Amino acid sequence: MMKSVREIACHEQRVFLRVDWNCPLADDRVADDARIRATLPTVRYLLEQKARIIIASHLGRPSGAGFEPSYSLAPVGERLAELLADDTEVLLPEDCIGDAARKLAHELAPGQILLLENLRFHPEEEKNDPKFAELLAGLAEVYVNDAFGAAHRAHASIVGVPRLMPVKAAGLLMQRETEQLGQLLSKPARPFVAMLGGAKVADKIGVIEHLLSTADVLAIGGAMAYTFLKAKEISVGRSPVDEAKVFTARKVLERAETKGVRVLLPADHIAAASPEAAGKVIREANIPADLQGCDIGPQTTVQFARVCKEARTIFWNGPMGRFEIPEFAKGTVAVAQAVAASEAVTVVGGGDSIAALHQAGVAERITHVSTGGGASLDFLEGKTLPGIEALEVSS
Ligand code: 3PG
Repeated sequence: MMKSVREIACHEQRVFLRVDWNCPLADDRVADDARIRATLPTVRYLLEQKARIIIASHLGRPSGAGFEPSYSLAPVGERLAELLADDTEVLLPEDCIGDAARKLAHELAPGQILLLENLRFHPEEEKNDPKFAELLAGLAEVYVNDAFGAAHRAHASIVGVPRLMPVKAAGLLMQRETEQLGQLLSKPARPFVAMLGGAKVADKIGVIEHLLSTADVLAIGGAMAYTFLKAKEISVGRSPVDEAKVFTARKVLERAETKGVRVLLPADHIAAASPEAAGKVIREANIPADLQGCDIGPQTTVQFARVCKEARTIFWNGPMGRFEIPEFAKGTVAVAQAVAASEAVTVVGGGDSIAALHQAGVAERITHVSTGGGASLDFLEGKTLPGIEALEVSS
């Protein structure tokens, strides 16, 4: 079992809080602070407890050869201070280990925050080096993991540190993510519609296979739909197809039929000679040889919206077309609106789907917007996430 941060004693304790503040930056500022905001309930809870909070995160994929200014967590620390909007001090030493970090952690007053520099400035983080884990664990007495987005990484701060710490717990975001995503795999209210899109069939096929056990309807759009259409011997013209996955796609369709899961594939398309060219509506599933599908068509959009309306649970991950090009974003935005308008429990993951929710101005209406990319897909594939396993305690 995994304890919640609310179930352990944190009062005035030194708490090592692992978060996933791997946020996009632009001009030395945080361009999207969703991952910081998502952990604020835990940070605020620890502040209420007057804990001495030592926050650790990675940011991007630096070379691992020491400090690199473009990967510094300084802009993230600034944004945190702005979001807390009180006089909480956020200290940022130049390194996550070493004398300065140790001294600041030691002298931290109750209710103060120490934000450690990017863990990945040390290659030992990704190697789960025991000595590095020991140095990090030495900074605190209590370990709290709120980094759901990084829970699929067996890195030092995710698995090595909690193994060394007697008191460990999940943060409030970690709890919420595992509960909401866990619900999709255990007892979803029915009908449960899983809506999947995006380009990479290989990344999502495991999730699709796993969801066949719990979903009632599988709606597949976006570039990966063409691999499924090809598996059904429907012409896809010049649309992208993952040839290596056509056989698997066929097997998935067969299994869905055996299990009584309804599979919806695009019945019409917006197609173009190339993504740069103007699109036109193709009013059938077959795409002419000289065109490629760039978005789901109007009839498919209506059909996908209808199943959303009837659903009691919806999981959506991945755009329905080339969402980055405004002309081909309509299907994805319409799905965002349909998911948001539904009365179902709605769970959304993936950068483009979340961007579409914001573009449609409906993000607030979603039950749970997951902060995990790879982590949420691994979770829904039924894999054990190392970061969750490391939080297991016997009682
Ligand atoms: C993510 O953005 O998915 C997490 O922060 C993990 O980052 P990584 O893929 O670089 O390990």
